[in-house]
Amino acid sequence: MSAAPPLGVADSLTREAIEHWLRETDETRLQELWAAADETRRRYVGDAVHLRGLVEISNYCVRGCTYCGIRAGNRGVERYRIPEDVLLECAHKTVEFGYGTLVLQSGEDYGITGEWMTRALRRIRSETAVSAITLSLGERPDEELAAWREAGADRYLLRFETSDESLYRRIHPDLPGRVSDRMSILRRLQELGYEAGTGIMVGIPGQTYASIADDIEIFRGMDMDMIGIGPYLPHPATPLGQEFARRTAEGDWPDDQAANTELATCRVLALTRLARPDSNLPATTALSLADKAGGRVHGLQRGGNVVMPNVTPPEQRELYEIYPEKAAVHETAEAVNAGIRQLLASLGRTVGAGAGGRGAA
Ligand code: 5AD
Repeated sequence: MSAAPPLGVADSLTREAIEHWLRETDETRLQELWAAADETRRRYVGDAVHLRGLVEISNYCVRGCTYCGIRAGNRGVERYRIPEDVLLECAHKTVEFGYGTLVLQSGEDYGITGEWMTRALRRIRSETAVSAITLSLGERPDEELAAWREAGADRYLLRFETSDESLYRRIHPDLPGRVSDRMSILRRLQELGYEAGTGIMVGIPGQTYASIADDIEIFRGMDMDMIGIGPYLPHPATPLGQEFARRTAEGDWPDDQAANTELATCRVLALTRLARPDSNLPATTALSLADKAGGRVHGLQRGGNVVMPNVTPPEQRELYEIYPEKAAVHETAEAVNAGIRQLLASLGRTVGAGAGGRGAA
């Protein structure tokens, strides 16, 4: 076996190295990748881990994304929208826990109107001391994005999921008359003065390691403030979840299919840290679900510097099932907060102060 191509940082990380390390499975050799990612994380963004309180404000969605459990076509989902006052309580809790950022996520739900969101943002701004507000509400029209920025939103998350155009079209069907172009929305968000975040899923059926190497090269050229990377977790009540089950049963996988494992996701995370040394990279919930024992720790030790503790009230939280969490025991927000602080202390990491925007190490 020939020697592994050397790991570099930013522009000195070669395409050849990215492709090689994405496919590396030897745990001993992988130590080199983990160490490089951890060292780069420490050098560029420090030991502080930024905590962001996540509120899942609605599980309604107009989209038919074939991977997602809250897709419009899933009739088995009981739908909810969080009342404004409950949202305000969550915001207060976020401040109480000392989380610098409040993240509001939902399906692409036009029942959450532009006006409703604008009002909620203004109330959060005037009634609470949250340092930063992040939105993750799907592909909303320009006017709304502009109004929300004006009303006090600082950041917006929109993963491009995969840069493989034909795969993206398969997993993310367009709405009638509206071609999905997330790259152009991300550019628009930046023009509007948002800090923009993006990301991908790892191990989507039909996604190759070569295509993930493309994704990482795109991250390198993109100037994103945050990059979220999680494994694809098959949801049985979705078309892609069913395809995953069939392919697994039949061993019917394309050449170079990327794995949706915790290990494969860590390789992508670590390489992304090297490619974009100063980005904010979360140790995602999906990663921690792929390996309940090690996922979160690995996420933090292999490139991650952000954690997004869930502060959604348990009642709604259990209905926000983008991937299967049926077996998960949802701890209270208080318990989650205590657990994360303990974990960070045990890893010798500190809790980030303030909003934790990029470069705020
Ligand atoms: N598995 C993993 N990630 C998922 N997401 C949605 N559904 C799934 C799933 N089944 C991710 C997508 C989306 C983000 C909010 O959650 O990447 O952008």
